[in-house]
Amino acid sequence: MSSTITIQAGQALERILSLEIVRVTERAAVSAARLRGHGKDKASDQAAVDAMRRELNKLPIDGTVVIGEGEMDEAPMLFIGEQVGNKNGPKVDIAVDPLEGTTLCAKNMPGAIATLAMAEAGTLLHAPDCYMDKIAIGPGYPKGTIDLDAPADENIISLAKAKGVKPSEITAILLDRPRHAKIIEAVRKTGAAVSLISDGDVAGVIHCAEPKTGIDIYLGSGGAPEGVLAAAALRCIGGQMQCRLVIDSEALRERTLKMGIKDPKKVYEIEDMVKGDCLFAATGVTTGAMLTGVKFGKNIIETETVVMRSVTGTVRWIRAEHRQLDKFHLD
Ligand code: FBP
Repeated sequence: MSSTITIQAGQALERILSLEIVRVTERAAVSAARLRGHGKDKASDQAAVDAMRRELNKLPIDGTVVIGEGEMDEAPMLFIGEQVGNKNGPKVDIAVDPLEGTTLCAKNMPGAIATLAMAEAGTLLHAPDCYMDKIAIGPGYPKGTIDLDAPADENIISLAKAKGVKPSEITAILLDRPRHAKIIEAVRKTGAAVSLISDGDVAGVIHCAEPKTGIDIYLGSGGAPEGVLAAAALRCIGGQMQCRLVIDSEALRERTLKMGIKDPKKVYEIEDMVKGDCLFAATGVTTGAMLTGVKFGKNIIETETVVMRSVTGTVRWIRAEHRQLDKFHLD
């Protein structure tokens, strides 16, 4: 049982915990999925948060939430700074998004996931809950193929050259937002295809590293916490990512300073956001390009999770059939 496992400091964090964290995202996904399509963003998020917190507290870790549901005064659970785990294990930083794509879940649309990343204490960027400009591609390209500060069309052309294809054979993924109109126009002018998602840019970034999705590059701005989670995934599976926080008010500037970020204009690469080895897991809530959503059957619940370890670059796709349904608090 997870609650009786003890991990000594220095012991390979990732080996035992990589399977333990699957339970955490599975439970969060199942709890959220029970409210799929009910139009209740907050309730489904809360269900995922409750389940994730319950499971995190069974893990043999001495964990601190560094990317969570918000500051202590605005989030009752899984707030930034909250201690989680049973303390019988290593000190770790935890980034959570118990329900990434709350609206997707509320509307039962594709791509909602429950996700978390874990790394040695002090190695994950403490990002404020603000926007972040992001650009990301998958593995196998020379360093410098993308540049956050270059125009979108230049990035598309550079990527096409590195991939050995025409720009018209590149597909970019962006959140469907008015703020991205100019980027979308510039991408389309190169002949490249634009794939628009209504929400869920953790998966959006990961799509670039997953050939089966057909996505080559992520462009645009999304949440900074989501940026750190996506960086953790790319740290495991490879790829390039550059990000910059969008600090657009004095209040935010002060908050970021309090969080230890001195240079608000800093361009973060993956290694700046995730400084050491990490684990990443995501379970599908609704079926998307990457993961199948939770399926409820008679006396069985099925989940699909992807779990990754940066040390080895191992990616496991875990399709689970759960039969002890009382563990999922189905009443
Ligand atoms: P939530 O799950 O918190 O609703 O976030 C969904 C999301 O689409 C993220 O994936 C993305 O980073 C962010 O919202 C974008 O923010 P906005 O909707 O304000 O453009």
